[in-house]
Amino acid sequence: MTHPSGRHFLQIPGPTNVPDRVLRAIAQPTIDHRGPAFGVMGRKLLTEIRPIFKTEHPVIIYPASGTGAWEAALANALSPGDKVLISDTGQFATLWRQLAVRLGLRPEVIPTDWRHGADPDAIGQKLVEDKNHEIKAVCVVHNETSTGVVSRVPAVRKAIDDARHPALLLVDTISSLASIDFRMDEWGVDVTIAGSQKGLMLPPGLAFNAISPKALAAHEKATLPKAYWGWTEVLASNKTGYFPYTPATNLLYGLHEAISMLNEEGLENVFARHVRHGAATRAAVEAWGLEVLCLNPEEFSGSLTAVLMPEGHDADRFRATVLDSFDMSLGTGLGRLAGKVFRIGHLGHFNDLTLAGTLCGIEMGLKLAGVPYQPRGVQAALDYLSR
Ligand SMILES: Cc1ncc(COP(=O)(O)O)c(C=O)c1O
Repeated sequence: MTHPSGRHFLQIPGPTNVPDRVLRAIAQPTIDHRGPAFGVMGRKLLTEIRPIFKTEHPVIIYPASGTGAWEAALANALSPGDKVLISDTGQFATLWRQLAVRLGLRPEVIPTDWRHGADPDAIGQKLVEDKNHEIKAVCVVHNETSTGVVSRVPAVRKAIDDARHPALLLVDTISSLASIDFRMDEWGVDVTIAGSQKGLMLPPGLAFNAISPKALAAHEKATLPKAYWGWTEVLASNKTGYFPYTPATNLLYGLHEAISMLNEEGLENVFARHVRHGAATRAAVEAWGLEVLCLNPEEFSGSLTAVLMPEGHDADRFRATVLDSFDMSLGTGLGRLAGKVFRIGHLGHFNDLTLAGTLCGIEMGLKLAGVPYQPRGVQAALDYLSR
């Protein structure tokens, strides 16, 4: 095994770079998860996590990947055969739909071109047509990590309210929490789904469900089978700061440190930083003469930018050139976008110079891979950042 010199540039849209402070916290010795010190830590953590979701309601932390949080949300809030309305905004919405089918739910899909977010009007229309209220939940991926498109959650909420429909609103914030403005309570979200490995700057391994009172009431009557994911058991244990099974103790140390870092910077400043880096990245893409996948400026992502390759050029070949030459990982195209786009992650533990280095690697890579481009992207981004 040889090690390239210098630091690997991990510029995929998650997992993101883990700050040294968080790594040091994770390196503390594991303690007894049933001992008194753990209870103190657990109670503190379960309280301090809530403002990150902008909620006053309980947030459950599972030792799992984000997919587990999807399953937990559906299994706890719904019953076999329930209809769920899902906007097919990209590969992650597609995977969530497939998971719903495997759980015995009946997803109704609203297609998109994968270049726009969920369409609130189309959602409203479906709900108005659903006279018998068979649709029990509306599922939206806030930031589609496969496309770099942000869905307008408040507009979706308004569409549900305007239709006077009782469906729950389930939102996947796996690549938006702690990087893109999200307000669970104000926006009337019933279950927020999240993961540790993106805006929270942690390694993969923690998954979250934040639960509104309406979702908890639905859970009381919901009959899909659930065991490991059961909200009731976890919430009962969480009351005293504990978990019904062995939690990911060291990742919880890291979570505490990451929350401290987010609070020191201020959540609103964190959001503004991501907006700014997204804009600088798009300035670079435009100056290269390439195309951003997201078409609606209201839906641009602060977490990542998906870039379309020119016709006849394979995005994965380009990514391989960048990895081999500069030890930088860029995100691959997923699902129907395979080979067609590469994705630049600009979320998490990230600053102006990280972005400058990332864009330099891309610009050099475009040249080496023989992709037609204008050599002006880095300069355009630097101009934007130094404005
Ligand atoms: C928006 C979104 N939803 C769901 C997932 C699935 O999460 P995981 O791979 O952690 O299971 C991801 C992963 O990148 C994601 O970006």
